[in-house]
Amino acid sequence: MLKTDAPIVRCERLCLHYPGNLAPVLSNLNLVIEPGTFVAILGRSGSGKSTLLHLLGAMDKPSSGILEVGGVDLTRISEAEQTAFRRRSLGFIFQSYNLMPMLDVRQNLALPLELNRMDKGRHVESRLESLGLTHCGHRYPDQLSGGEQQRVAIGRALIHGPALVLADEPTGNLDLETSSTVLALFRDLIRANRSTVVMATHSLEAAGFADRVLKLVGGQLTAVH
Ligand SMILES: Nc1ncnc2c1ncn2[C@@H]1O[C@H](COP(=O)(O)OP(=O)(O)O)[C@@H](O)[C@H]1O
Ligand SMILES: [Mg+2]
Repeated sequence: MLKTDAPIVRCERLCLHYPGNLAPVLSNLNLVIEPGTFVAILGRSGSGKSTLLHLLGAMDKPSSGILEVGGVDLTRISEAEQTAFRRRSLGFIFQSYNLMPMLDVRQNLALPLELNRMDKGRHVESRLESLGLTHCGHRYPDQLSGGEQQRVAIGRALIHGPALVLADEPTGNLDLETSSTVLALFRDLIRANRSTVVMATHSLEAAGFADRVLKLVGGQLTAVH
């Protein structure tokens, strides 16, 4: 579905103005991301980081402007195409982990493979190992620490080889030391998989793990480094 010769993300003059709000959240925002990059988006609370991730994840449509992921124009695809795009081409990581409470760690990891009718066997075992969670395969999310839950969520987001991984404040619920461990693992897995990641965070420490850091201010992105 996605084109391999296009940038993974292309936003041009992207605007999002929620009806009833005085000011737009995103205003003529430009962003191009090449495959294999780990991008962090900094910005204070309310600056529009989650809004931008929702647009990139085809969960909302912009008011105007160009919004493409892997050359696919997300402003023009149908709801069925949005669902297929999210299932096959995206991985999501949330602040609150969002694991399925009724499924054990192995089953949580296997979920994207099942939804995409991909072979599970080897993938799940090797992913458990790369996450350092071989001893937790049969545990349920409420039997894991926050850091362990987020490691499972990271594994789940990457396991089906999505073109783009979206992480919204992934370490917002973790202490500083656990955050560093989780982000170091995340960065290593991203590099091994050559995944593209857009991570929203208000933490400078978290942003330090990224290849490219941008800041969202006044509805636009500026380079930090
Ligand atoms: N569905 C919505 N309707 C109206 N306003 C919204 C909606 N979602 C978010 N906003 C507003 O958009 C702004 C940006 O929110 P958000 O993207 O969640 O910021 P961040 O993730 O950077 O904290 C905030 O002012 C918020 O109140
Ligand atoms: Mg947010």
